[in-house]
Amino acid sequence: MPGALGRVPLRIRDNGAMPTPVPPLQIGPHTVRPPVVLAPMAGITNAPFRTLCREFSGGKGLFVSEMITTRALVERNEKTMQLIRFDASEKPRSIQLYGVDPATVGKAVRMIAEEDLADHIDLNFGCPVPKVTRKGGGSALPYKRHLLRAILREAVSGAGDLPVTMKMRKGIDDDHITYLDAGRIAVEEGVTSIALHGRTAAQHYGGTADWDAIARLKEHVPEIPVLGNGDVWSAQDALRMVRETGCDGVVVGRGCLGRPWLFADLVAAFEGRHEDVAAPSLREVADVMVRHATLLGEWAGDESKGVVDFRKHVAWYLKGFAVGSEMRKRLAVTSSLAELRAGLDELDLGQPWPTGADGPRGRTSGNNRVVLPDGWLKDPYDCAGVDEEAEQDTSGG
Ligand SMILES: Cc1cc2nc3c(=O)[nH]c(=O)nc-3n(C[C@H](O)[C@H](O)[C@H](O)COP(=O)(O)O)c2cc1C
Repeated sequence: MPGALGRVPLRIRDNGAMPTPVPPLQIGPHTVRPPVVLAPMAGITNAPFRTLCREFSGGKGLFVSEMITTRALVERNEKTMQLIRFDASEKPRSIQLYGVDPATVGKAVRMIAEEDLADHIDLNFGCPVPKVTRKGGGSALPYKRHLLRAILREAVSGAGDLPVTMKMRKGIDDDHITYLDAGRIAVEEGVTSIALHGRTAAQHYGGTADWDAIARLKEHVPEIPVLGNGDVWSAQDALRMVRETGCDGVVVGRGCLGRPWLFADLVAAFEGRHEDVAAPSLREVADVMVRHATLLGEWAGDESKGVVDFRKHVAWYLKGFAVGSEMRKRLAVTSSLAELRAGLDELDLGQPWPTGADGPRGRTSGNNRVVLPDGWLKDPYDCAGVDEEAEQDTSGG
């Protein structure tokens, strides 16, 4: 378990009228206190990363799996069955599902409920990648109101006592906004809460997230909790999002990449301990890196596989530190824990947390044209289904 990291006092610029502590979030029977959620991220938020974030949060918050395609789940695909394995410490267990066919979504949800595979199911309608939207899946799907309703209905009825939540984007592009209709449909179908990423599919990860849309959704569906998502890079951003939008909880994604201790900051800030902000030295970061790679290896049942999977995290952890490009490259091709540790030990580990490393990280590109099936936009209310090939991608939201 990572110990307390170097901490620096935080200057509070704008503490506004933030009620402290912020009320907990209720997801069915699960009380999430404080209301902070790790965003599902394909290839990232597997059990090891969730465990790491949870350790830093002291077990508080909610940590959602990366998205699992419903067809692969009902077919008991071997890799998928590995992806839904939770650490014993994970309670509640949250699985995010992605599906385009109401019947398959229903089957997947019933399988989770009957086999006790999770305690909470989140449905992903936010994926913007062309491979998925081209078939009418991901963030293209909520445009077809009847199909969205049918999927939600199957999911909620199949889930029994398990709460079903959904996560979506604002819409396809500025001319085809779907989130308000989708929010209303979700309420009518018994969805427990909604997370809104304040971008359209066309924006991908570019520009800035539209927090006003989160506020509008909150007003539009007062019956259920609304969680805000997009561009939370610090605990103070999270508090500001709650204050400015009135949302009931905050979902944090890229801000945690190479920075799982952000969850310690989030919990501290939501509990009113604003002075607690993690500022780990490079030595402390190196220890977290080794722990992360170790957990990945244990989870994969193979040290080398874990270290290879860890490679994608190296640049995020080292962001802002004076490491040198050669060493960065070397650390990103290690295959064993000993090699990783040895490389890290060659660094000037006494370096303090770099100023400027707290800002945006991960994907930031945007303004792509959204590729859709022919005639997709003609009628939002037709009853067409979606080709199940729209489930073939696994790269997220
Ligand atoms: C690498 C990566 C993978 C993602 N995978 C998923 C996913 O599996 N399911 C999902 O709903 N969103 C996924 N997302 C979107 C995030 O959950 C989140 O909505 C988005 O990054 C915006 O939040 P942020 O600004 O806090 O990062 C992914 C994002 C990234 C960067």
